[in-house]
Amino acid sequence: MASYDLVVIGTGPGGYVCAIRAAQLGMKVAVVEKNATLGGTCLNVGCMPSKALLHASELFEEAGHSFAKMGVKVSQPELDLPAMMNFKQQGIDGNVKGVEFLMKKNKIDVLVGKGKILGTGKLQVTGADGTSQTVETKNIVIATGSDIARLKGIEIDETRIVSSTGALSLDKVPSSLLVVGAGVIGLELGSVWRRLGAKVTVVEFLDRILPGMDSEIAKQFQRILEKQGFAFKLGAKVSAVNTSGAKLAATIEPAAGGAAETIEADVVLVAIGRVPYTDGLGLQEAGVVLDNRGRVQIDHHFATSVPGVYAIGDVVAGPMLAHKAEDEGVAVAEILAGQAGHVNYDVIPGVVYTTPEVATVGKTEDELKQAGTAYTVGKFPFTANGRSKVNQTTDGFVKILADAKTDRVLGAHIIGREAGEMIHEAAVLMEFGGSAEDLARTCHAHPTRSEAVKEAALAVAKRAIHM
Ligand code: FAD
Ligand code: NAI
Repeated sequence: MASYDLVVIGTGPGGYVCAIRAAQLGMKVAVVEKNATLGGTCLNVGCMPSKALLHASELFEEAGHSFAKMGVKVSQPELDLPAMMNFKQQGIDGNVKGVEFLMKKNKIDVLVGKGKILGTGKLQVTGADGTSQTVETKNIVIATGSDIARLKGIEIDETRIVSSTGALSLDKVPSSLLVVGAGVIGLELGSVWRRLGAKVTVVEFLDRILPGMDSEIAKQFQRILEKQGFAFKLGAKVSAVNTSGAKLAATIEPAAGGAAETIEADVVLVAIGRVPYTDGLGLQEAGVVLDNRGRVQIDHHFATSVPGVYAIGDVVAGPMLAHKAEDEGVAVAEILAGQAGHVNYDVIPGVVYTTPEVATVGKTEDELKQAGTAYTVGKFPFTANGRSKVNQTTDGFVKILADAKTDRVLGAHIIGREAGEMIHEAAVLMEFGGSAEDLARTCHAHPTRSEAVKEAALAVAKRAIHM
């Protein structure tokens, strides 16, 4: 019987990174994966394919709209959707092969099949052909990720009524797309299909988009998206979709009650969140306790209720983000090796990869208000940033929130092009407990968009230079 120091179930960003770190620390490691390819949701049907389509569709739209004003004359761009999908697939294949390479390089065994925990130190792996093997291991890490959340009574067929998975592989541009949920997936994939020609309507249960993000940023983002052609129905829910006609007919009800209306669409994208995936893991029989939302319950050291069994990533509490899963994977591997692995949950950036991008780290202004924290705020718009002006990409602003007494930066929020890259200087600063003054006194290269971050930090003390 094969025997290991650590077996990780799932090879998403949480699982494969955990396995590599454990191997680096001298453990004998195996990963178990039920899918045909490694990399989990993120590499196969999540982060990576969505970013490939966002990149390609952004350039498609720019070629048609923005090139001419810069003096670059091109004939009206033509969409070759199969080629764009092929570009996406090449990106997926390249990354998946990269993970396979890393498994080999770090001498990590890949056990293909579905993992089931039999108790402390023992699990069963069953392949697609039904054959199974039992594996002994000192430790098990559950990194089985998440699955799409479904709407009661609305069946996802992945062709007309799709989840993110189907929306990443449509075979033609729908003339109309109805998105249920104004969260990250709805706005990213809504952007892809709008840029390629779809009329996009987003129905959101709450009275705002991107719940959880800074509300001032979200408001400006909504205005920009509306200018791009998005239509929003906030405070509303889709209660049924009639599939009998040539077009889908969605029933939209006000969240607060009242008269329903019908919206027709070629495709409906259900993007109302994700749920932890624990199917077939044998958790109940093994005695692994779940919380009230079906997530694996863990302590501060990622330990479950069963000795020797740990859990990380989307299957446990916290933001469902690839980098959070990765950092937890590293931390648990280090803890198993006797080190002091930990994750700073106060400094986990979040990025929406639209145009413009939205990036956030730390506390939002809404959270500070609610907690009664005394804070100062500095803001700087990209309209006053030289580089943004010359490139004519001035949408958005930077907002820095600092503790009113200590000046320590508590949060940073950016809406604008390349926000997802710029947010990291705030993240590093916050990791080191830095102040707005520290950021404001750090020399920033000119001309860069990052100078807006420095100016926002200066604005905390009301001394921005270019405003
Ligand atoms: P997963 O990546 O879900 O991997 C879990 C793996 O476990 C899967 O391969 C699954 O097959 C396997 N598995 C499950 N059960 C078993 C079992 N019993 N036996 C064997 N194998 C099993 N996050 C970001 O940070 N940035 C983004 O840009 C981003 N974009 C996204 C776009 C979309 C469309 C979606 C859907 C998600 C996106 N996410 C993004 C979220 C990100 O994909 C997840 O947070 C991340 O994949 C979680 O990693 P994980 O390792 O916990 O689980
Ligand atoms: P989400 O939680 O971001 O957004 C779901 C939205 O749907 C919320 O605004 C919610 O209020 C709304 N909603 C819920 N039920 C509804 C209903 N019945 N009718 C109308 N609206 C309803 O979830 P999403 O967009 O599905 O993404 C899932 C996860 O994937 C997120 O946790 C996110 O972190 C991750 N992800 C991250 C990305 C990134 O980092 N760029 C990209 C895509 C996904």
